[in-house]
Parts: sequence; structure tokens; C-alpha cells
Amino acid sequence: MTDRQTDQIIDSIIRVFADHGDEEYLGEPVTMSEHMLQTAHFAAEAGADEATIIAALIHDIGHFTSDHGAFSMQDTEDKYHEHAGARFLQGHFPQIVIDAVRHHVAAKRYLCAVDQSYHDGLSEASKHSLNLQGGPMSDSEQEEFAASTAHLDQILLVRRCDDRGKVPGLKVAPLETYLPMMRRVLTAATG
Ligand SMILES: [Fe+2]
Repeated sequence: MTDRQTDQIIDSIIRVFADHGDEEYLGEPVTMSEHMLQTAHFAAEAGADEATIIAALIHDIGHFTSDHGAFSMQDTEDKYHEHAGARFLQGHFPQIVIDAVRHHVAAKRYLCAVDQSYHDGLSEASKHSLNLQGGPMSDSEQEEFAASTAHLDQILLVRRCDDRGKVPGLKVAPLETYLPMMRRVLTAATG
């Protein structure tokens, strides 16, 4: 990827935050940009590597790149924003970032199956979307997911940070703080 392509993908992510950051986040008490920045904040606080922090920062990007629009509590069908997000990032970001975005819904279904306290701690909006997303994984789905998913620990960390990133009024670092890190992650992906 050329420097120009790196600039373009970073600009497109800055635009998503600028254009949609103030939107409500799926019936949660924070905006979209507060949610994404808090998710990255908790990943950094947990000592995650840079690619995982960037995955946390942009895990919901598919809400804005999907043809189907954003989720709402009135939805009766899943819009598969995780796949739209992974498609948007494909070819630019390292596989760990793409996988963490693609699997962040599966990771919720997995954690709900293996950890009852995780399920109980989900917000009402997240429990609503869980039902649309297929509910907790069955035993066989859960075994297959654990056995076949690369970077499982990082993916589950992004998921747990996702669920924590809903704190009204919590002040965290702004998007600009992460841009040099995003550039390093993009450059590492393509050499
Ligand atoms: Fe999220």
C-alpha cells in the first residue's frame, strides 16, 4: 500500500468519526464516537498490542459502511454490521484487525455461552441484538469457534472492551491520539 493509500484509509476513518460520531449508539447512553474511543481506551488499559487497540477503535465501523444502515432497538432482523466492517477493512489492515471486527458479534455469542456472568452484564440493547444475532452459541458452535478462530484472545478482549465502552461522561483520549498508531498498524500490514 502506498503512503497515499494509507492516508486515504485514515482519512476515511476520520470522516466516519466526524460524520457519524455524534450519533446515538444503539440505545446506549453514549454516542458512537464515545463508544468507539472508550472501547479503544479499555483495550489500551488492558495492555493490548497496537493492532488490537486499533481493532477496538474501529470495531463498529460497519454500522456506517453497511448498505442497511445502523442498528436500532426496533430492528427485527440482524444487519450483519460485522461483515460490512470487515469488508471495508480488507486489503488495508492486518488480519488480526479484520478478524476482530468480523468476529466481534460471534465473540459475544461465544462469551454468552461460556460465561453466564458476562451474559448477565450485557446492556439491554446488547441483549436485544444478541437475540437477533442467533443467541448464545450451542456447545458445538462454541467448540468450533474456539478451535478454528485465530487470535481468539485478542478477539475476546476487543469484545469485552466493547461491552465496557458505554460509560456516560467518561473522558478518554480523542481520535487524534490513535492516528500515529493506526498508521503504524497499516504500514506493518503491508510492509
Ligand atoms: Fe460496539
